[in-house]
Amino acid sequence: MKVKAAVVNEVNGPYEFEELDLQEIQHDEVIVKVVASGICHSDEALRVGDAEYPLPVVLGHEGAGIIEKTGASVKGFEVGDQVVMAYNSCGSCPNCRTGHPSSCVEWTILNMSGARSDGSPIFKKTDGTPVSSFFAQSSFATHTVTNVHNLIKVAPDADLRLVGPLGCGFLTGAGTVVNGLKPNVGESIVIFGTGAVGLGALMTAKIEGCGKIIAVDIHDSRLEIAKELGATHTINSKTEDLAARIAEITAGAGANYSIDTTGVSAVMKASLDVLGIQGVAAPVAVTPNSIELNTFMDLVLLNKTIKGVLMGDSIPQLAIPKLIEFHKQGQFAFDKLVQFYNFDDINQASADSNSGKTIKPILIIDETYRAGEPLLK
Ligand SMILES: NC(=O)c1ccc[n+]([C@@H]2O[C@H](COP(=O)([O-])OP(=O)(O)OC[C@H]3O[C@@H](n4cnc5c(N)ncnc54)[C@H](O)[C@@H]3O)[C@@H](O)[C@H]2O)c1
Ligand SMILES: [Zn+2]
Ligand SMILES: [Zn+2]
Repeated sequence: MKVKAAVVNEVNGPYEFEELDLQEIQHDEVIVKVVASGICHSDEALRVGDAEYPLPVVLGHEGAGIIEKTGASVKGFEVGDQVVMAYNSCGSCPNCRTGHPSSCVEWTILNMSGARSDGSPIFKKTDGTPVSSFFAQSSFATHTVTNVHNLIKVAPDADLRLVGPLGCGFLTGAGTVVNGLKPNVGESIVIFGTGAVGLGALMTAKIEGCGKIIAVDIHDSRLEIAKELGATHTINSKTEDLAARIAEITAGAGANYSIDTTGVSAVMKASLDVLGIQGVAAPVAVTPNSIELNTFMDLVLLNKTIKGVLMGDSIPQLAIPKLIEFHKQGQFAFDKLVQFYNFDDINQASADSNSGKTIKPILIIDETYRAGEPLLK
């Protein structure tokens, strides 16, 4: 099957539209007609080479669409179902079985190797050159092949143009709070970076009943949005003294939790410094940067913890329907953070995300789709 895909052919190269051959599905896979896809900062990290990846590649891992074909062993999904595609996991290792699919022992090979676990590609160029896939979904294409473990069924009336980013950015923010940090009601949290991940975390901290919810960014416009979504305090770390403000807001005690979504070394270190006794920091950015710390002074003395959290340690099939429900109730207003673009404008959408103009770009890949009218039913 021929598909139109946005291909990255070299590090720092633009997205280039090409006709590719989509390969046949295996028994546990489906073909999805992609309706829309968010662009996540992690797509950009791969495009610019912050994380090494085999090129050429079709990126995109916040896709939503409609199932067009199912493999022989696929159960629970039918042609015509509306789905969000999150990440892949094996479903049978100890970590998958205990409810931690982002800790799947095969996570890297299934999501980040550029091919299926047997090494076969999902896309080929018309001359036969294999093209890497990403997160077993590569949603920057008109059709894709994905694994049954990626899939989250959403209601026939859900708007597929909107829900794709629930598969990564917003899921990561929400899950880092609920599963990674597990705050008690009334505890305080500092969120560094108010992009999709940070604001997803912020809205969730509010739902979880955190007391002081402190948003930190270098753009006042983003901090305004953070306030609208529930930040009790905002700090522009470019113009204000971060340490002094945190001390003032927490009455000198420091915060219970922090999340860094910036990946900037000094900010990652600051996310540890703002913590009080027994505080926990979750640095979740995909970043080539490092931090230097003294284990005794920075961790041991105050019983602090640094915790890595991948994909919010979430089970997407359980978490995404909950986020949709919170959205319906007005408590997870991620639609306010979204800007739609035509698929053909992917390079502009990506540039607008980088410049800070757009928080969450969503590419409309099937312009004929209308919410509540799945194409194949
Ligand atoms: N751990 C995971 O599983 C996972 C999943 C998805 C995304 N990510 C990563 O999370 C990070 C955040 O993603 P996003 O989509 O929200 O990105 P984003 O670029 O939209 O948000 C980052 C925010 O940080 C702010 N910022 C930049 N420098 C700053 C500084 N010095 N001080 C304060 N704020 C600063 C920016 O203004 C922006 O608002 C990315 O690195 C992304 O790759 C991780
Ligand atoms: Zn992502
Ligand atoms: Zn597994």
